[in-house]
Amino acid sequence: MASRRAPEPYGACRTEISERHDVTDTVAGVSRVGVVGCGQMGAGIAEVCARSGLEVKVAETTGEALEIGRTRLYNSLAKAAERGKISDEEHQATLERLSFTTDLGEFADRDLVIEAVVENEQVKTEIFQVLDQVVTSRDAILASNTSSIPLVKLAVATSRPDQVIGIHFFNPAPVQKLVELIPALTTSEETIKRSEAVVEQVLAKHAIRAQDRSGFVVNALLIPYLLSAIRMFESGIASREDIDNGMELGCAHPMGPLKLSDLIGLDTVASVADSMYAEFKEPLYAAPPLLQRMVDAGRLGRKTGSGFYTYS
Ligand SMILES: NC(=O)c1ccc[n+]([C@@H]2O[C@H](COP(=O)([O-])OP(=O)(O)OC[C@H]3O[C@@H](n4cnc5c(N)ncnc54)[C@H](O)[C@@H]3O)[C@@H](O)[C@H]2O)c1
Repeated sequence: MASRRAPEPYGACRTEISERHDVTDTVAGVSRVGVVGCGQMGAGIAEVCARSGLEVKVAETTGEALEIGRTRLYNSLAKAAERGKISDEEHQATLERLSFTTDLGEFADRDLVIEAVVENEQVKTEIFQVLDQVVTSRDAILASNTSSIPLVKLAVATSRPDQVIGIHFFNPAPVQKLVELIPALTTSEETIKRSEAVVEQVLAKHAIRAQDRSGFVVNALLIPYLLSAIRMFESGIASREDIDNGMELGCAHPMGPLKLSDLIGLDTVASVADSMYAEFKEPLYAAPPLLQRMVDAGRLGRKTGSGFYTYS
């Protein structure tokens, strides 16, 4: 790969898109992965990719955010080793396949980039514009882990809308088997097939396809349920424990809806609800006032130590 001067973070100069290379040596030509964002999802996605034998570079905004993300990822890997899910050798080899940066310019040689930053259309659009400028291979797949933002908007922010796709993992990514594949109207059949091959053959996940409609399959069903539980709590019909116990003990859900909202992150739940409401104008997708107040207060759930419950 041609070496290039790495541009300043997010202020990249346009680099040339290289010729298509031979993609027969790896599954779908993907061996070098970039993950943008090392929060709950980015760290999990990076872990899944590195444990599957891919070389992974993870980008964050600041050195501080990078350290938090790296610690999150390393702790998760250490836990997997402690529990015997990976051997000591696999643990070590996985660590060696991981690298970290605050400079997206270092993504020039990536075959697949998975963006997993905050659920904000403007932030994601800017990242896709930068990725389009820095990633040199014309074969590279540019994917988003968005839960609700129209993929076509991210696709048309680039000069290669045929190479952009939604690859939507579930939380926690190392545990959950499902991945939704969401082609934009512009995504080529080749990009869909290559993404599916990576997800199923390399990452050993189960892929389902969804149309590019806000919420896709799983969140279109899940979010109205979570919002109903928050409305129920807000209107005092039942306590948070009784709502969660109702669904855990009455319907055999592994986690009640308020605990699950805390796990997902209340900012993410609110953003997904807002996108779905903006798309369909269905009242059942409208975020209840309590949810928005909790987001405004910084009570985002587990990741900030307090949401519907408090966490140590
Ligand atoms: N939380 C879930 O259960 C879940 C499940 C599936 C998909 N998602 C989607 O995954 C994405 C990330 O969600 P999350 O729960 O990991 O959020 P999070 O808040 O835990 O992490 C977001 C990370 O993005 C980083 N970030 C923000 N702007 C950035 C930038 N410009 N460059 C690099 N990093 C940047 C932040 O520093 C933070 O670490 C969202 O699109 C969300 O909708 C979330």
